[in-house]
Amino acid sequence: MMKKILWGGLFLFALLAFRLVESPLHPDHSVAELLETLGDKPLPHKPDMSVDGVSIERGKDIVINGWSKVGSKKSRKQSKHFTCIACHNIEREEPNLAAPNPAKRLVYAAQNKLPYLPGSPLYGIVNRTSFYNGDYIKKYGQLVDLARNDLREAIALCAVECSQGRGLKPFEMESVLAYLWTIDLKLRDLQISEKERKVIEMAFANGSRKEKAIEILKSKYLDHSPASFVDPPEDRTAGTGKKGIPENGQLLYDLSCQHCHLDHPFSYLILDGAQTTFKHLMKQASTYKAHSIYQVVRYGTSPKGGDEAYMPLYTAERMSDQQLADLRAYIKLKADHAL
Ligand code: HEC
Ligand code: HEC
Repeated sequence: MMKKILWGGLFLFALLAFRLVESPLHPDHSVAELLETLGDKPLPHKPDMSVDGVSIERGKDIVINGWSKVGSKKSRKQSKHFTCIACHNIEREEPNLAAPNPAKRLVYAAQNKLPYLPGSPLYGIVNRTSFYNGDYIKKYGQLVDLARNDLREAIALCAVECSQGRGLKPFEMESVLAYLWTIDLKLRDLQISEKERKVIEMAFANGSRKEKAIEILKSKYLDHSPASFVDPPEDRTAGTGKKGIPENGQLLYDLSCQHCHLDHPFSYLILDGAQTTFKHLMKQASTYKAHSIYQVVRYGTSPKGGDEAYMPLYTAERMSDQQLADLRAYIKLKADHAL
């Protein structure tokens, strides 16, 4: 008996040791670092750690809480309305990074207890090279020019325009970047086949077929987050014309709308689980007023006099028309039936 256990243990150990030798790459290996090792051009937006006061911790505080400690004092809040995580996830939110998909993302969000948000994820943002893509030019116009290929400018734009707050000081900006570099893509996030893994491992170990390895890695995630604006349905009584699934609508209500409209201080408007709330939303849905779900989801609201809280719009990529139908189906169900 003892002998068996001993042999078993030895066998496992050998297997493990073999795996280690065979696979020099760890699942936690940074994709950007690996690409650089393989000879790819380094990404341009590394933090400048030589600026006085820069730290990962500070960056994390700014992103999550909106302030950081300077000496013994709290800094002024970046925005009095929002923190970055009101609109952006800092965790991976997409099951397949090469093919983002709103329906699959919603299931993934529910499974992983993540909110489902209008902004693209900050997780892996440092691996991307193009920002405010697609139709965002319509919303931010020339401001996009600077931000399109420059992460610092993209953050600066968002701090002021999306977050309706103050600009970041250089040590805060570099700190945010330093933090964002800790939530860059890791090898385990990519769906790589055994065959592809071999190519990458060989390239890493002895420099063979580096270009192929780079190509494989880059095919496993998008270097930008596509953004298409959609108009609300013309006939709002008929809605999107799709049959809604209330169960999915509930996920959207809970993980998306309530992220800002329930316990968080991001909006004065409370969207709770009361039948009256659903009745209100249902009644407004078919109108052309600001409280119509079609209106707010597709157009958002505007920060009236500037420096106001406002609701960001959802692009087709962040909420599909099917999901909008699902949301309506759920609201209707709850409006019609007191539970
Ligand atoms: C009120 C919502 C909101 C807040 C708060 C907010 N953002 Fe954004 N942000 C957006 C939206 C919407 C976009 C549009 C592009 C996208 O992410 O899909 C965006 C874009 C970005 C982009 C470019 C992403 C891309 O793929 O185009 C970056 C980087 C960014 N924000 C960083 C931040 C940081 C850092 C903060 C906190 C200081 C912040 N944002 C706060 C809503 C917000
Ligand atoms: C990122 C945060 C955020 C998310 C997510 C969000 N909202 Fe909002 N919403 C706001 C803010 C901010 C306002 C502006 C009013 C305010 O200052 O509180 C607003 C306003 C509204 C209004 C009122 C419009 C007006 O002009 O007063 C409605 C209705 C609404 N939201 C519904 C929704 C629904 C439905 C969802 C889910 C699909 C949702 N919101 C998701 C932040 C959010």
